[in-house]
Amino acid sequence: MAPTRILAIDQGTSSTKAVLFEPDGTAVARASHPLASSYPRDGWAEQDANAIWESVKAALAGIVAQVGTDGIAGLAIANQRETLVVWDAETHRPVAPAIIWQCRRTTGACAALIAAGHDARVQELTGLGINPLFPASKLGWVLENVPEARDLLAQGRLRAGTVDSWLLWNLTKGASFATDHSNASRTQLFDTGWLEWSEELGELFGAPVAALPEPRASDSRFGELAEGTALPAGTPVLAMMGDSHAALYGHGVRGPGAVKATYGTGSSLMALTPGRIASSHGLSGTIGWSTRANGVAYAIEGNITVSAQAAAFAAQLLGIKDAAALSDLAQTVECSEGVTFVPALAGLGAPHWTDAARGTVGGLTLASKPAHVARATFEAIALQIADVLAAMEQDIGQRLDSLRADGGASANGFLMQLQADLLDRPVHRGEVAEVGALGVATMAFESLGISVTGEGQTTTFEPDMDPCRREAILKGWRHALAQVLGA
Ligand code: G3P
Repeated sequence: MAPTRILAIDQGTSSTKAVLFEPDGTAVARASHPLASSYPRDGWAEQDANAIWESVKAALAGIVAQVGTDGIAGLAIANQRETLVVWDAETHRPVAPAIIWQCRRTTGACAALIAAGHDARVQELTGLGINPLFPASKLGWVLENVPEARDLLAQGRLRAGTVDSWLLWNLTKGASFATDHSNASRTQLFDTGWLEWSEELGELFGAPVAALPEPRASDSRFGELAEGTALPAGTPVLAMMGDSHAALYGHGVRGPGAVKATYGTGSSLMALTPGRIASSHGLSGTIGWSTRANGVAYAIEGNITVSAQAAAFAAQLLGIKDAAALSDLAQTVECSEGVTFVPALAGLGAPHWTDAARGTVGGLTLASKPAHVARATFEAIALQIADVLAAMEQDIGQRLDSLRADGGASANGFLMQLQADLLDRPVHRGEVAEVGALGVATMAFESLGISVTGEGQTTTFEPDMDPCRREAILKGWRHALAQVLGA
């Protein structure tokens, strides 16, 4: 019988997951392996690139230990985006730690480029405002600060790419050096109109585009596995996408009009757009994905810097066990009684984009209790999402009727209900825990001509809040936000 299962890797910031899917969308095996980050200086964030690769091998081995290798038609990869790995093509050795998406080491360099007036042109080419999040300034930093990288570049041996290309390189033992259009679109070096690396941006950021991988459609046959993993050599890699993009695909979204939010450490809202659009409301234009048959699906995205992490933070601050206990506490009161929490704990991302903002707890009175702060925390998670969704509607000039939710914190029904109440729109939660893995696996199945039949199982949370109460919460939030932003 022909093999019909897809093994999806979801290489995330805190762990690597592997999920084996049947064509009906059923997950038949799951494995995961943790991954550490280090924060060597204020604002810096790194990972060991070899540890990323080892975590993938361990997750693959975990699946094979459960169900063997029979029936696996190919691999699909979803990955943490905007993380830069730089390595030597001859030794396969990374020449620097992976500089992960959270790293702010290039804040100064980015500010200088903005001050010099380059932001509008960069946005025109990439859809992205200049920011240390993106690999462009990170690669510039490596070339400036790692002499070995300069030597390797001069010898034509330097390779630089996002995590998808680093994994593909290792899986194929250097036979394939490629990335997909969704990951490329998040580097700030990719011209999303012409679908090619931009020499102009390379020069601006001091980031040599000659070292970057070949950009391909997300459903390309990216290469075949070499020996060295638990899977048979020759197993093809059939699809690659950034994790947020894969989640949108996993929700079954194939055209404009629907928006998803991933509730993780931070949050990403993404919706497809009819074409390339430039945001005038603090969001990013990006590539959702591309397929060989249908070309590029453009998208708009808003990234919230601290989302579900706010609950873990508030729990710690209040001396409460964890975010789940904080959620229980929040539900012991009917409302936050005017208490607000603006979780600007690492500045504010979309739609405000200010590194200088600092978090605040406001509206306290002698009657305030930890439960009110707890409730305000969950309201803040939902309100930040609501603000990005409103910005999206303004950018695309269309009402978005509902929200699709995924990610760890979406398992919290209290938060999902609050989200529906504060958005005044239904929230549909995907019931497959690994929506991103399902999304990229679905694309891999489709590349083999197999359509996935089991997508779309959701739980719906309908709005159920008195409009006056909603308005009072929104008013309190706007006031608190204005103070944080110094408006
Ligand atoms: O943009 C960064 C994002 O892709 C990271 O995702 O799942 O590792 O938090 P995750």
